[in-house]
Amino acid sequence: VTTLVEAANKANKRIGTALSYGVLSNNETDYLDIVKKEFNYVTPENAGKWGSIQTSTSDVWNFDALDSMIDFVEQNDMAFKGHALVWHRQAPNFVNGDVTPEDLTGLINAHIDVTAARYSGQIYAWDVANEVMGDDANYRDSVFFAKLNKRFIADAFTRAHAADPKAKLFYNDYSIDNINAKSDAVLTMVTELVDADIPIDGVGFQMHLDASNAPSTQQMTENFQRFVDLDLDVNISEIDVRLSSLPWDQVTKLAMQQQVYHRAVNACMNVDRCDAVTIWGFTDKYSWIDGEFGPDDPLIYTADYQRKPAYFAIADGF
Ligand code: XIL
Repeated sequence: VTTLVEAANKANKRIGTALSYGVLSNNETDYLDIVKKEFNYVTPENAGKWGSIQTSTSDVWNFDALDSMIDFVEQNDMAFKGHALVWHRQAPNFVNGDVTPEDLTGLINAHIDVTAARYSGQIYAWDVANEVMGDDANYRDSVFFAKLNKRFIADAFTRAHAADPKAKLFYNDYSIDNINAKSDAVLTMVTELVDADIPIDGVGFQMHLDASNAPSTQQMTENFQRFVDLDLDVNISEIDVRLSSLPWDQVTKLAMQQQVYHRAVNACMNVDRCDAVTIWGFTDKYSWIDGEFGPDDPLIYTADYQRKPAYFAIADGF
């Protein structure tokens, strides 16, 4: 194969990347050429988050960045995933203030109505609820859960579906890639949503992985299958693979990283209802990992845009 898109097309799946609006606006030719050539699915890395759209005033919205990203995606015949409607991080400060449960519901509803309706019919999918499950497998103690209990989750899906009936609606989370207490809890949550006829179409598995302890293909496949059995789609929504904690030389680390990307793509290949693999960026020049976990090389191109072994794991994996 010559590109990731060509490989993914053969498998009837999408290959995506997160795009940062800041980087996109730099007009770096090497960067843009790769986006256009290698990917057919885009998630805005930050531009679609509630706090990027609404800052200090609850009745003012700013869609400039998101609009121009969607233009870019449409001009290049790619699909777009909105990310993320309800998330406790990167939300505007006014949701955390002294608001009643009724006010909070009103703020969430207005945000979803305005944002999802703006792009109705134009985008492939939305991450509707992001990371509402805690690492201890209980609902995360966010302002949303504290004030509204878990009903904010079902309500967000219902609201998003009304605003954009054609978009696929996903739940999205991390550390749920194999069968474990947290993925069990998410399975229970989405089972309740499905049983209550809430319009949820699937689950995104972020897969911010560390090569030193990543799950096997079989573990990921078995876990995906539990969600597919509920008649849901699954997708790999934000994969990156850290290698800095491996005790070996760089060549060996890169080979291990390649193997981990390969396992993930294989798991997606094992399940028909896995519709996409999205990488959380593509060049080590721009990755959120450096800021969040410390210096690393978690992506599939070097900082100077050479394909890494991990690139070929994906190309060959599809
Ligand atoms: C990250 C972005 O990559 C960073 O630029 C930002 O500072 C924080 O958020 N889970 C998600 C993504 O759903 O939105 C996060 O993106 C990474 C973890």
